[in-house]
Amino acid sequence: MCGIVGYVGHRDVVNILINGLKRLEYRGYDSAGIAVFNEGAELICRKKRGKVRELEHSLSEEPLSGKVGIAHTRWSTHGAPTEINAHPHFDCKKELAVVHNGIIENYQELKDSLIMEGHNFVSETDTEVIAHLIEKFYENDLEEAVRRALKELHGSYAICVVHKNEPHKVVGARLDSPLVIGVGKNENFLASDIPPILEYTRDIIYVENGEIVTLEADNVTIKNLDGARVEKLPEKIGWDIGQAEKKGFPHYMLKEIFEQPEVIKRIINTRISGEKIHFDELKISDEDLLKPRNIAIVACGTAYHAGLTGKYMLEECTRTPVWTDTSSEFRYRDPIVNEDTLMIVISQSGETADTLAALREARKRGAKILAICNVLGSSIARESDGVIFTHAGPEIAVASTKAYTAQLATLYLFTIYMARLKSALGEDKIKELLDEFKTIPSLLETILLRYKAEGNEISHYAKDFKAYYEKRHTKSFFLYLARNINYPNALEGALKLKEISYISAEGYPAGEMKHGPIALIDENPWVVCIVTKSRTYDKMRSNIQEIKARGGIVIGIITSGDEHIKSLNLNYIIEVPQVHEFFSPILVAVPLQLLAYYVAREFGYDIDQPRNLAKSVTVE
Ligand code: F6R
Repeated sequence: MCGIVGYVGHRDVVNILINGLKRLEYRGYDSAGIAVFNEGAELICRKKRGKVRELEHSLSEEPLSGKVGIAHTRWSTHGAPTEINAHPHFDCKKELAVVHNGIIENYQELKDSLIMEGHNFVSETDTEVIAHLIEKFYENDLEEAVRRALKELHGSYAICVVHKNEPHKVVGARLDSPLVIGVGKNENFLASDIPPILEYTRDIIYVENGEIVTLEADNVTIKNLDGARVEKLPEKIGWDIGQAEKKGFPHYMLKEIFEQPEVIKRIINTRISGEKIHFDELKISDEDLLKPRNIAIVACGTAYHAGLTGKYMLEECTRTPVWTDTSSEFRYRDPIVNEDTLMIVISQSGETADTLAALREARKRGAKILAICNVLGSSIARESDGVIFTHAGPEIAVASTKAYTAQLATLYLFTIYMARLKSALGEDKIKELLDEFKTIPSLLETILLRYKAEGNEISHYAKDFKAYYEKRHTKSFFLYLARNINYPNALEGALKLKEISYISAEGYPAGEMKHGPIALIDENPWVVCIVTKSRTYDKMRSNIQEIKARGGIVIGIITSGDEHIKSLNLNYIIEVPQVHEFFSPILVAVPLQLLAYYVAREFGYDIDQPRNLAKSVTVE
C-alpha cells in the first residue's frame, strides 16, 4: 500500500507531486507529505495527517516551489496515522529524505543497532531505518549509499530518496512493491503506478526487483544491486488519463459500475472471433494447459469471489477438479500443489502481496501459473507462466466493480476454451454458450438504464434502509443468501456493502441457514436473496418463506417477469433480465454493487476511499 512519486525536471514540482499523489490515493490516504528542493536548493518538507487535499491546502497557505522532489500518501502499517509518522522520513541531520511503500521486516533489529550507534529516531515507522541506514553509508554518493542500505533490509520496498548534497537527483529502488519510471523530455518521473505520470509521458519503464534507478532531468540510469548497468527501453502505454477520470459521475465507483457493458464488450471483441476464443498474450501452450490434472484458484477479496465462481464454471464444463483458496490461507497450509496443478491467480492490481507470495510458492512446487490480471506490467502478470489480461481499464474506486465482472467474463471464456480443449463440451453447446455470452453487454445496459436515474428503486431501498436502521437503533444489518453459482455473489454483495457503508453484512449459501445463521432472523436483518431462475430456484423460494415467517425484511433479486416469486410478498424487488443461469452472476453483480453504493451514499460516507482500506494491498 502507500503511493510514492518522485520528479526531476523543469516544471513546478509541487504541482506534479500533489496531482500525482491524488492519483495514487487509492493506495492509501491517512496522511501525506512531500520533500522538495526549493530555489535555494534547501530540502524542505511538509506533512499533513489526512488526505492529500489537507496537504494541498497547507501548501496553498504556505507555498513552496522547486523542480526536484518526492512525495508520499500513506496507509499505515507501523505507527499510527500521525504527522510525525507521515513520510518523508529523515536522517539525523535532515540532509536526506525517504518515501517508502512496503514493510521492512527486520526494522526493529536495525533500529536497535542504529540507536546503539548514536542515531536519533523520531517516528514509530519502519521506514525511518532506511533514512538512517543511508545516512550511515553516505560518502558523497547517494546511489552507492542506497545500494549499501538496501543490502541490510528484509521485507518489501519501493523507495524514492533525495539528498541535500545532490539536489538534482532522485534515487529509487524496488523489491516486491511496484515502481515505474516515466521517461520525459528534460524531465523524468518515478511513481508507484502509471496514472501520476500519464499526463506528461506515455513512455514507461517498469523497475524490477533489485534495481536501483537514478533520475536526473536529462538522464535515467538503472543498475542492479551489484552496481552493474541494466539497459531497458521504455514501453508505450496505450490508455490515456481520461479513462482514469470521473467523466461527470459523482464517484469513481458509480462511473466504474456504469462502464461494465463497455468492458464486457471489449472482452468479447478482443477474445472472440467467429466461434474461436483466443488469448493472444497467453504464453502457456494448449498442451501445457491439458497436462495438469487439477486446477487451483487463488486470490484475495473480490478477486477470490470471482475465483469461487470460476470453480463452479470450470468443474461443470471441464469436469476437472478445482479448489479455491484465499491467498493468505494458501501459503501457510502446506498445500498439495505440484506439476499436476494449473494454478490460476486472479488479481486486479497484480500487486497484492499475498497473491504474489502464493504464486511464488506454487511455482516453487512445480505448478504452472496462469494469471488473470488487469494491470499490464504488474508483478503478478510478469511472474506468471502465462497471463490473460481482463481489459477493464484503470479501476480507481477502492471497492472493485468492473474488475470483478471482467474477471468473471474472462473466467467464462477461459472455461469454454478449456472445455473445447478437453472435448468436455460439444461444439453445439459451445456455440450456444458463446451466443448467449455475446448478449451480456446489452443485458447489462438494460439493468443500468433502469437504475440510472436519480430516485431509482435501488436508491429508494437504500433510503428506506437508513430510516429503518435508525428506527431500530442501528441494530439492522444485512444478510446475503444465494445458492450454487450465485453463492459467491452473496459473499461479494456483502463485502461491497460492508467495505463502503460500514454496516455489518454476511454472505451465506442459503442451504446453510438452518445450520446456524437462521438464529439471526427477526425484524432486524435485511436479507438480500438472489433468486433468479436456476436449478436451485425452488430451494431459494423455501429459504425466503422461512425468513419471511420469522419477520426478516427480504430484498429479492429476481428474473424479470417472474410473477410467481412476487406471491411471496417480498419487501423489495430488483429485477435482472433472463439469461442462462450459468451467466447470471455477471448480471446479478450489478444491482449488488448499486445497492452497496446507494446505501453508502445515503449515510454520506466517502465512497471511493472508505476508511482503513487501500486499493492495492502490497503488504501482508
Ligand atoms: C474489494 C476489493 C478487494 C480486492 C482485493 C484483491 O472491493 O477491491 O477485496 O479485490 O484486495 O485485490 P487485487 O484484485 O488487486 O489482487
